Amino acid sequence: PRCFALVPAAGIGERSGAGIPKQYVEIAGRPMLAHTLAALTAVPRIEQVLVVLSPADDRFEQALPGHAGWVARVGGASRAESVLGGLAELRRRGALDEDWVLVHDAARCLLRPEWVDALIAACLPDAVGGLLAQPIADTLKAGDADGRVSATIDRRDKWAAQTPQMFRLGLVERALQAMGAAATDEASAVEALGLAPQLVRASMANFKVTWPEDFALAERLLAG
Ligand code: C5P
Repeated sequence: PRCFALVPAAGIGERSGAGIPKQYVEIAGRPMLAHTLAALTAVPRIEQVLVVLSPADDRFEQALPGHAGWVARVGGASRAESVLGGLAELRRRGALDEDWVLVHDAARCLLRPEWVDALIAACLPDAVGGLLAQPIADTLKAGDADGRVSATIDRRDKWAAQTPQMFRLGLVERALQAMGAAATDEASAVEALGLAPQLVRASMANFKVTWPEDFALAERLLAG
């Protein structure tokens, strides 16, 4: 089977406060999305990287001039719908049920090819697939609407889910269709089918650039 990457980049990034979709915010001289795609295209085992844009996107060509990879304007109202649109596009371009798809957030622009290599090595022999993740170091609190602690959550078996998340095309498509727009990642949809994806440790640096202060941190890490 082959490996494809799918990058949902159809969000509006409301929480970033940037005023433009966060994947186009420049970090260390290049749009965030360019860093993300550079990391994925540096992985030889990945045949093609498909970028999923919103049908209303009017920035891609200008932000990534000369981009030679696959692009599809099939984004939807939720991340899950954007991924489903991308999976259908991969099928149109010849991908098969048994091919692997690595879904990776455009907003995780600090991705390093060696972490992707580790995920692929762990998942290729696996019956289910898996995801990059990081064990939680902080003590976890649940908060109420007044900003007060309502509970402390045992952190010992907790991981922060990252991307890429790697599953076979047929499985992840079936899983996301069953779960609908509620799925915030592929693994949760696969879990809902009763399967247990593999957790592959990466790095805290593989964080999702989300809040205004994240941009400066990403800049420091990418420049250094
Ligand atoms: O909103 P969130 O941070 O979970 O988005 C994660 C990724 O999913 C981002 O790369 C974003 O562009 C993408 N996304 C999408 N379509 C949506 C919402 C989010 O492709 N409707």
